[in-house]
Amino acid sequence: MFELNNILRENIKNLTPYSSARDEYTGDASVFLDANENAFGSPLSNAYNRYPDPMQHQVKLRLSTIKGVPARNIFLGNGSDEAIDILFRSFCNPGVDNVIIVPPTYGMYQVSANINDVEAKKVLLTPDYQLDLEGIAEAIDINTKLIFICSPNNPTGNSINRDDIETLLANFSGIVVIDEAYINYSRQKTFIQELTEYANLVVLQTLSKAWGLAGLRVGMAFASEEIIEVMNKVKPPYNVNESSQLLALEALGNVEQVNAWIKETLAERDKLVLNLKDLDFVLDIYPSDANFILVKTTDAKGIYNFLVQHGIIIRDRSKVELCEGCLRITIGTPAENKTLTETLQQYK
Ligand SMILES: Cc1ncc(COP(=O)(O)O)c(C=O)c1O
Repeated sequence: MFELNNILRENIKNLTPYSSARDEYTGDASVFLDANENAFGSPLSNAYNRYPDPMQHQVKLRLSTIKGVPARNIFLGNGSDEAIDILFRSFCNPGVDNVIIVPPTYGMYQVSANINDVEAKKVLLTPDYQLDLEGIAEAIDINTKLIFICSPNNPTGNSINRDDIETLLANFSGIVVIDEAYINYSRQKTFIQELTEYANLVVLQTLSKAWGLAGLRVGMAFASEEIIEVMNKVKPPYNVNESSQLLALEALGNVEQVNAWIKETLAERDKLVLNLKDLDFVLDIYPSDANFILVKTTDAKGIYNFLVQHGIIIRDRSKVELCEGCLRITIGTPAENKTLTETLQQYK
């Protein structure tokens, strides 16, 4: 059974977190001479001379309403990449523990593992890009702390079978991290409503994709209060800056725009699939639940280089295991997708 204390690193268990200036008093105050800021202001039209709220209360409150999850179950990071790194630092002892990743998948799990000197055991997805549950069960040992599942998966685009993920959640005594960066484009339901069911569940989401805020770097983790407390203890004190918090808050008030873009992206995805599937060099286009498609071709490198020459950049994934010959194409605006289609029609 999952028991947080069993998988938490000893140094984190015993960690006294950094206490920021504004955490150390209660009551109202109007003169802040506690944090060595510049009291005069900023050389900008907006004032950023004060440190931001370390716990991002306003953004979490808004997210809590949108997502239907209490604010105490939400962690915010400098992108979800930061949340991934914090999970490693909280739970994995360098040189001792390991995690399981299921390639082909998002590359940062491996990179974060390498940075933290943690072994990433690879259990390949099946040929139809689903979990190899037996392989995962064999790979798990007493030092396995985290399993990363990306659903919808990058770069393959498909969602992972819900039942399989639930099997892992019910049987693994470490943490199952479900990366839902592309969930807004998916037909599959999010796992964030399952937090009360599974104490070992961490769901990652981000404002970088459907929300159109990649430049602000705001990522989310949803988990039990105990796991969120650990992540807050480990994070740098001011990990989401003031301008990102203010702009994220403003953007979260405009969900209608985001929903309209999601609809348009899905329509454009269908159109692009139709336009590309009859091209000679296209062997297969995999079903996508995301804002990109994975296309199997006869000559990935040649097509990639041809598009670069025409000023169009896509992602060559042909060197990735189980993605031989594949290109990953993000769905753009109608005009961009048209340019891409017309350019590809010229490829010989
Ligand atoms: C599956 C997945 N997770 C996380 C990220 C990174 O998200 P963020 O911008 O929030 O760090 C990406 C970005 O491409 C992604 O594909």
